[in-house]
Amino acid sequence: MSPFHIIRTLPEDATDAALRADVRRGLTATPKWLPPKWFYDAHGSELFERITELPEYYPTRAEREILADRAAEIAAVTGARTLVELGSGSSEKTRYLLDALTDLDTYVPVDVSESALTQAGQALIAERPALTVHALIADFTARLTLPDTPGPRLVAFLGGTIGNLLPAERAAFLASVRALLAPGDSLLLGTDLVKDERVLVAAYDDAAGVTAAFDKNVLAVVNRELGADFDEDAFDHVALWDARNEWIEMRLRSRTAQTVKVPALDLAVDFAAGEELRTEVSAKFRQEGVRAELAAAGLETTDWWTDRAGRFALSASTAR
Ligand SMILES: C[S@@+](CC[C@H](N)C(=O)[O-])C[C@H]1O[C@@H](n2cnc3c(N)ncnc32)[C@H](O)[C@@H]1O
Repeated sequence: MSPFHIIRTLPEDATDAALRADVRRGLTATPKWLPPKWFYDAHGSELFERITELPEYYPTRAEREILADRAAEIAAVTGARTLVELGSGSSEKTRYLLDALTDLDTYVPVDVSESALTQAGQALIAERPALTVHALIADFTARLTLPDTPGPRLVAFLGGTIGNLLPAERAAFLASVRALLAPGDSLLLGTDLVKDERVLVAAYDDAAGVTAAFDKNVLAVVNRELGADFDEDAFDHVALWDARNEWIEMRLRSRTAQTVKVPALDLAVDFAAGEELRTEVSAKFRQEGVRAELAAAGLETTDWWTDRAGRFALSASTAR
């Protein structure tokens, strides 16, 4: 058997049905919203990789610094033989873990982006012929069935992606992760931390406009998949800090009063001039909040590491 298999856990029409349901719900709601998972077609995944290299986008560099400093410790604490990574994207930072986990047998990247999984998986097996890569095209918010691979398992959720879930979604998600963990398994969670508003907003509204292009890519996905006629130039990218909820919101603001047609849903969506469509929240965390949310899901935080500037945290936890 080849050391790289890619498994679609959802049939393509289920993805299509989920997109249709989300677009109908989100564009008929007040205020309007779309879930961030639809950013990540092949172009969106490429744009995200460009974001990670922007001078303003500190989270990737901060998390990489922690992994570079602590991977050996993480390996010693977890002793993992299977590394499962949720929302794995390019798996670029994951290489620190793959290098440090000396007993590793199988890597299981899980992502909605088939293009990201294929590229990452092929690069990894070329670099590491002894590693089995068992990629899953799946939605990590749905019930996951993991392949039967040797334990202990380390489930990594990096990049601060957990912040894209709303609080109730986070609670349900963490409970489902807890259900995946057997005794001896661990969760490694990356969380971006609350900090100066200017630093946060700049990270989601870069000078080169890459994040704006990423934000508008969701409109291109809806156009392509559902035949909609969104004009990307008729919307402005907006990033703002919601101090009460301690999250960044990305929105698309309609420049004019306009009607967008979504033929596949037989839907016409009116936008007032200045009306905003929320495309992403990115919650920022404090240590006590992360520990409390993990505890509420039946997980006990055993380790907490930050980068030297205290911008980002990785925590390890186990089932209680
Ligand atoms: C913010 S990026 C982080 C990528 C990478 N982990 C990193 O740290 O650079 C989020 C990743 O999660 C994936 N993703 C987003 N929502 C998802 C979902 N509901 N299920 C599975 N993957 C998802 C995206 O395709 C993307 O690769």
